[in-house]
Amino acid sequence: MSEASMAKPNRLRWSIPARWYADPEIHRLEQERIFAREWMLIGFAAQIPNPGDTLARDIAGRPVFVIRNREGALRAFLNVCRHRAARLVPEGAGHCDVLRCPYHGWLYDAEGRLKALPEFGEAPELDKSKLGLVPVRVAEWRGLVFVTHDRNPSTVEEGLGDLVRVAERFPLERFEWQDRTLYQLDFNWKNYVDNYMEGYHIPYLHPGLNRETEAKAYTVTPGDRVCIHRAPTRTGATYDGLWLWRWPNITIGIYGDGLNITRIVPHGPSQMALEIDFFFLPDPKADPEDRRRKMQWTREVVEEDFDMCRAVQRNLEGGYYETGPLSPRHENGVAYFHDLVRRALAPELTDQEPH
Ligand code: FES
Ligand SMILES: [Fe+2]
Repeated sequence: MSEASMAKPNRLRWSIPARWYADPEIHRLEQERIFAREWMLIGFAAQIPNPGDTLARDIAGRPVFVIRNREGALRAFLNVCRHRAARLVPEGAGHCDVLRCPYHGWLYDAEGRLKALPEFGEAPELDKSKLGLVPVRVAEWRGLVFVTHDRNPSTVEEGLGDLVRVAERFPLERFEWQDRTLYQLDFNWKNYVDNYMEGYHIPYLHPGLNRETEAKAYTVTPGDRVCIHRAPTRTGATYDGLWLWRWPNITIGIYGDGLNITRIVPHGPSQMALEIDFFFLPDPKADPEDRRRKMQWTREVVEEDFDMCRAVQRNLEGGYYETGPLSPRHENGVAYFHDLVRRALAPELTDQEPH
């Protein structure tokens, strides 16, 4: 965005065009210019502790897997066999002693080198060294595993922006995974992020949360590709945790002994998945029922937004709404998110306003 737009905090901001929430071409551009360029969370180091452990999923619409090699280092590749494009490693976390393609049995090592093509036949002109798996950049940061399709990426720490600094005082590595909740939803991922980025709607959609927090005093503070949320309680107690969104699609919440990490994953112009991983600090004295209640409370608050996001999606897609003004008091996080989307998709549009 231009320096001028950043320098005028009081200028009224408008939301990105409605058609960006339903357009297949925008979805394609986002995969290429946002999700394929950023460091993306693929999973957690604790899921792949041993040599041969694997973790596979799509990142920016392309299948990727991570494998821990014999020396304990992480390697990542496109999950595509160089023979006839079979998927090598099953989705999710797993383990393989040898990387053997399930289609015709080609063998690769954990460095991605093609080692054997059983029963292939004589082919003196075939150069095995040119048929290694396509590497993908991978890095671990504090127990989280990130990959990027960018061929010349920054370091993961640079890529994570202010997340590195604001998470410093929290013991991320000590949390242990507890549970996962997955929602398949019929709306655009930006529609969900917009909703996440403001506390303006709390009195209307979240009666329970509204009884506990002072929605008027809810703040969202943008940093470098991160927005920090703060919600003072009604009793005025200071809340000592961390609650943030990180560009483009993860949120992190730390509440006492609990940690939630959420991924907002686009699956199409009007489809997304919301994946919440719940973690807790190890504590033999912890009451499992109390932890179950905490997770359930989070799910309930999250679910309270879904109907509104569905209704908004329908109206964004209808062709009868274009853009709306963003509240200077409550929607600065939405404005910041929209700036990042505009900058990624159409740099020349960063100052666009309706006429
Ligand atoms: S597709 Fe992998 S061995 Fe044929
Ligand atoms: Fe909400």
